Amino acid sequence: MSHILVTGGTGYIGSHTCLQMLLSGFEISIIDSYVNSSTKVLDSLIKLGKEYNKDFLEKINFFKGDIRDELLLDSIFKKSRINSKPISSVIHFAGFKAVGESFNYPLKYWQNNLNGSISLFKVMNQNNCRNIIFSSSATVYCQTNSFPVSEEGIVAASNPYGQTKLAIEKLLRDLTNSDERWRIIALRYFNPVGAHPSGTIGEDPVGIPNNLFPIICQVASGRIDRLKVFGKNWPTKDGTCLRDYIHVMDLAEAHKASIELLFDNTQDNFLVLNIGNGIGISVLEAINKFQEINKCNISYSFVERRNGDLPIIIADNKKALSLLNWKPNRDLNQMCSDAWNWQKKNPNGY
Ligand code: NAD
Ligand code: UD1
Repeated sequence: MSHILVTGGTGYIGSHTCLQMLLSGFEISIIDSYVNSSTKVLDSLIKLGKEYNKDFLEKINFFKGDIRDELLLDSIFKKSRINSKPISSVIHFAGFKAVGESFNYPLKYWQNNLNGSISLFKVMNQNNCRNIIFSSSATVYCQTNSFPVSEEGIVAASNPYGQTKLAIEKLLRDLTNSDERWRIIALRYFNPVGAHPSGTIGEDPVGIPNNLFPIICQVASGRIDRLKVFGKNWPTKDGTCLRDYIHVMDLAEAHKASIELLFDNTQDNFLVLNIGNGIGISVLEAINKFQEINKCNISYSFVERRNGDLPIIIADNKKALSLLNWKPNRDLNQMCSDAWNWQKKNPNGY
């Protein structure tokens, strides 16, 4: 087992992935600036990890800092050792992710996502570490695709956030073309939802959430009055949009499987994989299932379509299923119950 650097490791997906990696026997160093996460995540992660394994604490190093700080990054690569092991690979989550905000503050997005990634890859190269899993997004697929979409689908992101993801994917491809020692997997996540079943770690959006599941949870808990459903006349089975929701613990497991593939795969040194369930769930189905499983009421009303929404976004996940020793195991019931369990136990987040 090896020592992995996780950038953005105290964020939503990062915290669940760190837990999964630690429980699978990896050592991890985390770098996070807390620009979009709570300083309490680490305590919750350690508390949870210790319930599984007393030695958990000895397997984590944490560094508070920005990945654009190349001196700090360089010193982490040079000095961070766990059980004498240097960092052998990186899982790169750190970045901004809000599509709407990226239209208003493109510089903020390009600066953080692209410059942060350039600094990271540069320092990795200097330190002879060229194995990386990168967090990309389904938002890179453009509207002209038919869905389910495979990795060969047409990419042309319609928002600045998605454009930063595409640019970083291109940069990673250039790196593998320039030096075959790079081993890279870009994971295009579909719609991550849910939380660890303990309710000790979960999604904690800053301010009013924009995404469906955090809003449903806050309507159920009374923090938000009602859910506005964006459109009721889409060309889908019930007139509301279909999305490919994936449980965050299935996503975490996909990272572990991807790290293993990085070391085993001798064929391709640059891979792109869709990470989704391959199943389309409508907004109304999500609301109804949430109410049924959690025995609660979600008030909602229909409003105009949201600008930029597509009727259907679903992954063709065959490539991931065949290359990774992984498949998603948690259904919509589990997503709804784990999302609500986290919300009930942490009504105000961390
Ligand atoms: P998140 O905001 O919860 O986590 C990102 C973490 O990175 C945060 O803890 C933040 O503090 C940290 N960070 C940001 N910029 C940093 C910097 N320059 N230096 C150090 N730390 C920094 O987001 P998430 O939902 O966990 O997403 C993780 C990654 O996955 C992101 O790159 C995101 O774009 C991508 N992604 C997320 C989704 C989703 O729906 N959540 C979907 C597709 C892709
Ligand atoms: C969006 C982003 C995606 C990002 C993801 C998680 C786009 C094109 N995609 O996905 O890049 O990874 O968020 O951050 O912007 N809905 C409502 N009412 C609400 C909120 C959502 O009806 O108040 C509906 C939406 O119309 C959509 C579905 O719920 O059909 C899911 O929306 P959301 O959770 O915001 O995710 P996406 O838009 O799919």
